[in-house]
Amino acid sequence: MTAARQVRTRVSASPEETHRLGVRLGQLLAPGDFVGLIGDLGAGKTHLVRGVAEGAGVARSEVASPTFAIVYPYAGRIPLYHADLYRLADYDELYATGFLDVVGNDGAVLVEWLDRIPEAAPREYLRVTLGHAGDDARTLTAEAFGERPTALLEKWWAEEG
Ligand SMILES: Nc1ncnc2c1ncn2[C@@H]1O[C@H](COP(=O)(O)OP(=O)(O)OP(=O)(O)O)[C@@H](O)[C@H]1O
Ligand SMILES: [Mg+2]
Repeated sequence: MTAARQVRTRVSASPEETHRLGVRLGQLLAPGDFVGLIGDLGAGKTHLVRGVAEGAGVARSEVASPTFAIVYPYAGRIPLYHADLYRLADYDELYATGFLDVVGNDGAVLVEWLDRIPEAAPREYLRVTLGHAGDDARTLTAEAFGERPTALLEKWWAEEG
């Protein structure tokens, strides 16, 4: 795998801060963007996704936890596809879900548990790894693979310190 062009780390001190970071990212997303989320149970992936959805103009009531389907489409300022790979075995199984048809298409794609099937990521993408850092603290490490993801990451954290 090629090395990330840019790696940045920050700490979120609360669920609200993670949500706000998500909102900011959601405001910046464009069709074709792919964001992969990695982190243990309770690391905050879904909190971040809810923020992203809000920032992308998705109605709060639309956002579920993808438990019964692999890919949830949300209608916002742009289409947003929210996937969770937790229960998938491998790439072949993912292929069968139709997930790959939405990648690089008309919307942006957010994928929880990308580490389960790393091959699900396109060549260029933003990878965000969340980790427990005690109580309400979480580390967020963002790695940009490619030019557009690098620009996206720079804008995302420019105002957030
Ligand atoms: N700084 C923080 N950012 C995000 N969540 C936090 C933070 N501090 C505490 N939490 C708590 O951690 C939990 C995160 O839950 P969330 O569903 O977002 O995790 P997840 O990574 O999606 O887990 P799973 O893989 O089980 O779905 C929530 O209970 C939330 O209140
Ligand atoms: Mg989750």
